[in-house]
Formats: sequence, C-alpha cells, structure tokens
Amino acid sequence: MTSSTLPNISEMICRLAQLSELSNGITRQFLSSEHREANALVCRWMEMAGMRAHQDAIGNIIGRYEGLETDLPAVMIGSHLDTVVNAGKFDGILGVVVAIHCISALYKEKKRYRFPIEVIGFADEEGTRFQSTYLGSKAVAGTFDFTSLGRRDVNGTSMQDALLSFGLEPDKIKNAARKPKDISAYIEIHIEQGPVLEEQGIPAGIVTEITGAVRFQVTVTGTAGHAGTVPIHLRNDALVSACECVLMVEEIARKHPKTVGTVGQITVTAGASNVIPGETVFTIDLRAADNEIRHKVEHELISEMQRLCQKRQTKISLKKVHEAPSVTCSPRIINQLQNAFTKSKHKPYCLPSGAGHDAAAMADLTDVGMIFIRCKEGVSHNPAESVSEPDIQSGLDILLEFLNAYD
Ligand code: GLV
Ligand code: MN
Ligand code: MN
Repeated sequence: MTSSTLPNISEMICRLAQLSELSNGITRQFLSSEHREANALVCRWMEMAGMRAHQDAIGNIIGRYEGLETDLPAVMIGSHLDTVVNAGKFDGILGVVVAIHCISALYKEKKRYRFPIEVIGFADEEGTRFQSTYLGSKAVAGTFDFTSLGRRDVNGTSMQDALLSFGLEPDKIKNAARKPKDISAYIEIHIEQGPVLEEQGIPAGIVTEITGAVRFQVTVTGTAGHAGTVPIHLRNDALVSACECVLMVEEIARKHPKTVGTVGQITVTAGASNVIPGETVFTIDLRAADNEIRHKVEHELISEMQRLCQKRQTKISLKKVHEAPSVTCSPRIINQLQNAFTKSKHKPYCLPSGAGHDAAAMADLTDVGMIFIRCKEGVSHNPAESVSEPDIQSGLDILLEFLNAYD
C-alpha cells in the first residue's frame, strides 16, 4: 500500500473510537481484544505512512522512520491508545494519529532528517484495568515495576495472565526498555483536557510541567446489620462513614488551592437496600504540581479520615496503588518548541498540565516536551470531548516545524 491511502486524521480518530468494549461509548482497556485490534490498525497505518512497525513486549506499537545517519539517537513522538471507561475520542489517540500524519507528510515529500523518528502508541497510560498507570511508557523507560504483574482486574485476571492471553511474554518486558543513548527526546501532542487554551483564544500551548499524583484504595469497615431493626445511634454504617471521608477529600483540596482530590469509584457491601453497609471501598486520586505540598496534604487527609472513622467506630485501611512525582519538561525542548510555535505563527504560550501523561514516565529515560491542543470547554474523560480540525492542523504544523529545526 502507499501513503496516499492513509485515512485522514479525523477518519483515523473515528475508526479507533469504534474499537470499544462498549457498544455505545468508548472503552478500550489494556490487553483487551479491542487493544489488539487497535494495535493491528495502527501498525498498518504506520506502514502506509512509510515506517517499519512492530509491537513490543508490553503491547506498545512502535513505528520507525529511518534517518540519513543510522547511528544517531531517535526522536520519539506519540501518546497512548488505551482509554478510560466511557471516554472521549481524543485523549491519547490524537497524539498517535498526528504523529503518524507527521511522518506521512515527510515520506510524501521524500524528506528524511539526519536522525530517525519513532512513533509510539503506548499500551496503557490510564491505569483503568489494573489501577497502575503508565505501564507502556514505564516499560520503555526501563522503570516497569515487575511486582505489578500480580495485580488483578475486576474479574480477578492477573496482569501476568492477561499478557499471556494477549500473546506476550511477561519476562520479556525488560526487552521493551530503551537506552538513553538511543532516544534523544520524547515529544507528545495531547488535548489540553482543561479550559485554559480556550480562554486564551489560542489553538495550542507548550507544557512546562506535569502534575504529580497519588492514588489510594480505601476500605472502611463497619458492621453489617438489619436496616429495619438496628436503631440509628447503635449502627457502625461503613457507607456513612466513608461519605464523611469523601467530603473530607473535597474539604482538604479546597483548603489547599494548589491541590485537587477526587473520589471516582465507590463500592458498597452488601449493596442491598435492606442491609446496613458493612464495608465500603473507594478510590482517592490526589494531585499537585509541587511534590512537597502533595505529601503534606496526603498526610493531613489520612489523619483526618482516621479521626472521622474513629468517631464512628469504623475501621479504615489505605493501600497506595499508584504514585508519580511531578515532572518538569526539558528546558531545551521547551525552547525549541517555542521557536516552532513562533515559526508556525502561533503564540508560544506555556502552561502546566494537571493531567498525567506518558511524558512523565518517559522523563526517566530522556528529555521530554509536550504540545497541548485546545479542546471544547476543557471537557475530557467524557464522551463529549471535542477538538476542531483546524486546531489539530496547527498541532501538526508545529510538530513538523519542531522536527525540521531539531538538532
Ligand atoms: C490520565 O488521564 C490522568 O491524568 O489520570
Ligand atoms: Mn486520560
Ligand atoms: Mn491521556
């Protein structure tokens, strides 16, 4: 096939949106059959765009566009192909398809730089299935935590078994790791997922830093009982106690304006209308750009929740399931992105990222930089995610200018 048969960016985004575990809505988790289909499709597109493509040992898909000099380190560009539950079409996916189109444009013009370029579609950034994020980019950066292979999804399948069923060999994950001498930079295009660029009236911005985050799984245990016979003052209701903790997450994040805290998942046992809840399990996601502030707020929150549960005579236990420190983007890359913005007639506006990104994990391997693209009303992790075609074109132009001047 030739590069002229490559679908356009909007068509690619719609094709990937169809690969979903849900019939109405987009959910594509790590190592699902839809992940396998997405990899096959992206692999084909990479080949059409002039790259050699392969899948690595964690399920990332990687295309390589050779440079004129074979032994120079590559510039890696891309983002992730997995999604949250009931996602939008653009989170992650946009960065992969824009990167493929960037190579296709070079290939059509028979243009090669001295250095090779690699395009990557990371297998897992969201952590939706195993509650452990950046699995794909950590494998590439050489920081994959092998103890996470024992984690189980909601159906009880371990990551180890899921990898095997996908056709991957878990003990080969170390082979996915790249060496710093082989990659000179990682650049990611991503939708902003917030309202700042729209408010500024500009299509794109340059990321300065990526927020740090911690996630907990919290279990509050009370005493299950009969909803009709136990007087209110004699109950140890695990759900009511957990609700006080949920409100405390909000109260503490409000008190420290540079932090955000979210409870996004809660399950109640027995989960029946005539049973006093005996156990409630919920998640906490706490973020701040400043690691010290995040640690301080984390400790304050834990001690406040312990106090609340003690008052209600319930028991609380917390398991830290994810932690990622905040990461500063490379000043060298920021500077080169500023030049690329100016050259393509865009204001080189800089902003921090409140969302996590593969670039944060890749910073352990190489210099990282990110280009944010404006999204409608700042909405993301929501089926209503929307990005305009002219804004996507701006991102592509900026990325091409960046590569053109890269040294
Ligand atoms: C990923 O999108 C995250 O920031 O949770
Ligand atoms: Mn996301
Ligand atoms: Mn993302």
